[in-house]
Amino acid sequence: KHHLISAADLTRDDAVLILDTAEEMARVADRPIKKLPTLRGRTVVNLFFEDSTRTRISFEAAAKRLSADVINFSAKGSSVSKGESLKDTALTLEAMGADAVVIRHHASGAPYRLANSGWIDGAVVNAGDGTHEHPTQALLDAFTMRRRLVGRDRGIGRDLAGRRITIVGDVLHSRVARSNVLLLNTLGAEVTLVAPPTLVPIGVESWPCEVSYDLDSVLPKSDAVMMLRVQRERMNAAFFPTEREYSRRYGLDGDRMARMPEDSIVMHPGPMNRGMEITAEVADSDRCTAVEQVANGVSTRMAVLYLLLGGAEPAAPAPHARTE
Ligand code: CP
Repeated sequence: KHHLISAADLTRDDAVLILDTAEEMARVADRPIKKLPTLRGRTVVNLFFEDSTRTRISFEAAAKRLSADVINFSAKGSSVSKGESLKDTALTLEAMGADAVVIRHHASGAPYRLANSGWIDGAVVNAGDGTHEHPTQALLDAFTMRRRLVGRDRGIGRDLAGRRITIVGDVLHSRVARSNVLLLNTLGAEVTLVAPPTLVPIGVESWPCEVSYDLDSVLPKSDAVMMLRVQRERMNAAFFPTEREYSRRYGLDGDRMARMPEDSIVMHPGPMNRGMEITAEVADSDRCTAVEQVANGVSTRMAVLYLLLGGAEPAAPAPHARTE
């Protein structure tokens, strides 16, 4: 049975297949009629125990574009607020015949528990668990980087070998950073983390990346700079300098962006703290891909659902059959 719990679950070939399939899905999105019949009769449940805008909406759009039936479950307003457990919630969804469960949870490990519990039969997709992982975010980020740094058509079948990616900010609390480091390493990119010493996770030495505390020295050597949201809700004052001090040392403003190579890009998974890790000038510039990342999230999540649920009909010619 197939699940997507961690970016580490993916080999280089798995990841390239997902990115190539996402390109086929993006071609569907460019058509007047954006729907494929491939998951007709299948049910996808979006099980969200933690707030989300981008991930929840894009999984819903992805499932609907594949013609699946979609059930949106939010812990707020459900019987979870009366104390119902993850197990009983899962058994309820199973009784409704879920073919895939897309889960976001505040507890790291909740998607793994669901996938290995025997409570449900369907595929489990991790849509962000605590401070642990967010593998579909890493996939849509890799899709965005491949399009921008390799090329939309030239990128088919290719990885990100040799591309230099810098991830900046609150790495300690970031599931996006962990999944990106794992996936980018699998795809051959060179990753550098830049963060204040208090926001670097213990054990980072074992991660497949470099660590720096000096943003200005890393920027000129970066093909993409990914700014992370400062997660104030997950930290206490001991972790954090002042907002002003943080922005001065680790924020990306127009002057800093000017030190990046000409064709490099600025990324942000959202939601953004404008004025903290990124200025409005940078966020709204042509080099910032934040909105493009959201659009790419729909194609990427269509590819993940399609490949996990094995659609009844091919979405398009198999990527390896392409001749370009
Ligand atoms: N990037 C991301 O996961 O955003 P949401 O929390 O809005 O889903």
